[in-house]
Amino acid sequence: MTKASEQDRVLIFDTTLRDGEQSPGATMTHEEKLEIAALLDEMGVDIIEAGFPIASEGDFRAVSEIAKNSKNSTICGLARANFKDIDRAWDAVKSAPSPRIHTFIGTSPLHRAIPNLDMDQMAERIHETVTHARNLCDNIQWSPMDATRTEHDYLCRVVEIAIKAGATTINVPDTVGYTAPRESADLIRMLLERVPGADEVIFSTHCHNDLGMATANSLAAVEAGARQIECTVNGLGERAGNTALEEVVMALKVRNDIMPYATGVDSTKIMNISRRVSAVSGFPVQFNKAIVGKNAFAHESGIHQDGMLKNAETFEIMRPADVGLSATNLVMGKHSGRAALRSKLKDLGIELGENQLNDVFVRFKDLADRKKEVFDEDLIALVRVSDDAGEDSLVLKSLKVVCGTEGPQTAEMTLSVDGADKSVTATGDGPVDAAFNAVKQIFPHGARLQLYQVHAVTEGTDAQATVSVRLDEEGRIVTGQSADTDTVVASVKAYVHALNRLIVRRGKTGSDKAEISYKDVS
Ligand code: KIV
Ligand code: ZN
Repeated sequence: MTKASEQDRVLIFDTTLRDGEQSPGATMTHEEKLEIAALLDEMGVDIIEAGFPIASEGDFRAVSEIAKNSKNSTICGLARANFKDIDRAWDAVKSAPSPRIHTFIGTSPLHRAIPNLDMDQMAERIHETVTHARNLCDNIQWSPMDATRTEHDYLCRVVEIAIKAGATTINVPDTVGYTAPRESADLIRMLLERVPGADEVIFSTHCHNDLGMATANSLAAVEAGARQIECTVNGLGERAGNTALEEVVMALKVRNDIMPYATGVDSTKIMNISRRVSAVSGFPVQFNKAIVGKNAFAHESGIHQDGMLKNAETFEIMRPADVGLSATNLVMGKHSGRAALRSKLKDLGIELGENQLNDVFVRFKDLADRKKEVFDEDLIALVRVSDDAGEDSLVLKSLKVVCGTEGPQTAEMTLSVDGADKSVTATGDGPVDAAFNAVKQIFPHGARLQLYQVHAVTEGTDAQATVSVRLDEEGRIVTGQSADTDTVVASVKAYVHALNRLIVRRGKTGSDKAEISYKDVS
């Protein structure tokens, strides 16, 4: 049997902070981007696409700082096929110990029509821009966007031009999630066979999940010779998302017998980063999501449980510990102290600074007073919502809601606005509507509610509810989250959390807002 060290290495290129973050509603703050980048670096991701530096001041700042902080991973910045974008990407990544520029242009007939370039003009543009990028940086990735719908002869021609101009990685994007496994493999094989110089570069696969085939398409590309997979944590990304990092990493690990390729990713860090990406992006992970879903390791049916107790391999193809899930769900209660909490969180892969730990401890004690047993999921929810505590403009002081079969419902609320308490009574169609109307009366604003989502953290009627609220104010999109055993209180806190983030964003005069998208053709 081949040893892992002798197996072909597949590079993991994570684009959570670029393709993932650019999906509507998934915007992250500067600090959140730095945190996610640090986790990716630590878990052994080979290349982090940290953002699209020309898009906004905020993107540029984030990519620059991630580049400076990076320890192990190559840091990559995205650029369209023009000198200005490429120079900006280089400025952002050049302080990384290992920088990369990723430049791209849409090569399919539909995409060629947008900048109105004919085949020869586009070929010339590719030659000029890749040459320019290579004069700045030794590590250049080039992508023919919508490669899977590009004529094969033309694709071979432009890939050859990019290689000759100095590209070191050729990424083959399935931009609209159109391809299927056999076709994905055939395309990589065709390029490797037909393009002169193909054996001197790394071929990469970048799939979207519109038909639910992103993971299968990526793995098929690897079997055909691709040695880099582009992916995002939780499959975050526009529309149906990108290839999920956790799926390709675990598929290559669990089925190494038939796919003998190694990645450098420490799979035990998967659950932690999955939870953090879900928390900061505001995109919950679906319960039955492969690898990281709440039910991925749950065995509820009687037959399954019986089999599991006799031999875990009966129904489990991987151990929970392989992805960083603690094997036991040790219950914490109101007598558990700070040290027990710290050690429990450590088991869950969560390490907090002293201030954060104090904040979570106070919330934990409060929860333990109201709820008999505090489970792992409860603690994770507490950590998720403890982030921005501190200098918030709006703070919920008190809330009383009167419900009944006869509407309308009434909410009496006191909210502190920049230190001054304001109280109102508002009505609405249901308790949450009444409470949100109260917030709006106290703090009038024009933000539109884009998403309101409630999840029960554990089973039982005393379960905490985690609530996500996404607001949109003139394209500035923010997500707020909270958890409480009272669903209405959790809802209001999540709403207030989102408004506090909006207030911070306004203060930054929109600098975190992408001014251009990578889809705008220059
Ligand atoms: O999906 C896509 O084509 C992209 C490119 C910019 C690589 O994200
Ligand atoms: Zn993409």
